[in-house]
Amino acid sequence: MSNAAEQIQPEEIVLSINNIEVVYDDVIQVLRGVSIDVPKGKIITLLGPNGAGKSTTLKSISGLLKTENGEVTKGDITFLDQRIDNTNAADIVSAGLFQVMEGRRIIEDMTVVENLRLGAYTRNDSEIGSDIEMVFSYFPRLKERTGLAGYLSGGEQQMLAIGRALMARPKMICLDEPSMGLSPLLVKEVFGIIEKINREQGITMLLVEQNANYALKAAHYGYIMESGKIVLDGTREQLLNNEDVKEFYLGGGNEERKSFKNLKSYKRRKRWL
Ligand SMILES: Nc1ncnc2c1ncn2[C@@H]1O[C@H](COP(=O)(O)OP(=O)(O)OP(=O)(O)O)[C@@H](O)[C@H]1O
Ligand SMILES: [Mg+2]
Repeated sequence: MSNAAEQIQPEEIVLSINNIEVVYDDVIQVLRGVSIDVPKGKIITLLGPNGAGKSTTLKSISGLLKTENGEVTKGDITFLDQRIDNTNAADIVSAGLFQVMEGRRIIEDMTVVENLRLGAYTRNDSEIGSDIEMVFSYFPRLKERTGLAGYLSGGEQQMLAIGRALMARPKMICLDEPSMGLSPLLVKEVFGIIEKINREQGITMLLVEQNANYALKAAHYGYIMESGKIVLDGTREQLLNNEDVKEFYLGGGNEERKSFKNLKSYKRRKRWL
């Protein structure tokens, strides 16, 4: 098993999570020695079942743990050579890292354009208007919706949440389950646009998903998390062709999903421990 860091130059790593532990309320340990590398310009996906710790990982990156009384108690997180573990959320956005949260969190009683302008709150340049047009070029249907964002469909709200992230002109975007609640057709459309944005804008992405099928097709490299630990990682091809991933994450098997932790066939090289 190889790791993303070993296949590319270290200076190309945009975000590096190094052996972190996260604890809520001083006692509940959720992450146990998680390490993830996100190379520049790539889409990296973090997969795993409910409660694995995926959102917690994203919150530890984007400075949102504090609001939930959580803390990175061990390890470190580096974004563009700057330590960001336990940094506040606004400073992380200013550094160029934007998170699209689970459940979208758009402002329902504002219009689409007002929501987009909100995404640009850290900027004071004169190109905000043209960036709104850039967002509409990726999501043309948003341009037609002139009412309040609360009346948008689930898919349109997801598009608006991604568009709002683009308005910050981020170097990197973290997306928490963009497929949640969307029909298969819309999931396909949203993932297609995510790939297009990555390709055309060169924005590095960390994509958290339960929908392994779509996420692995969009991503260059993936990590699988269970019970607060990374249990497997590999390139898209390695993971798509891995028998265990096929059985447990890509469907096909009728059995109840087993855990990677119990699989003899899987031996992770403990590079950080
Ligand atoms: N604020 C919190 N306080 C205490 N425990 C929490 C808190 N947030 C999450 N947890 C616990 O941490 C574990 C991981 O939660 P997390 O939301 O990170 O999982 P997830 O992988 O994102 O799951 P899902 O796929 O359901 O979104 C769960 O057991 C959850 O109960
Ligand atoms: Mg989650």
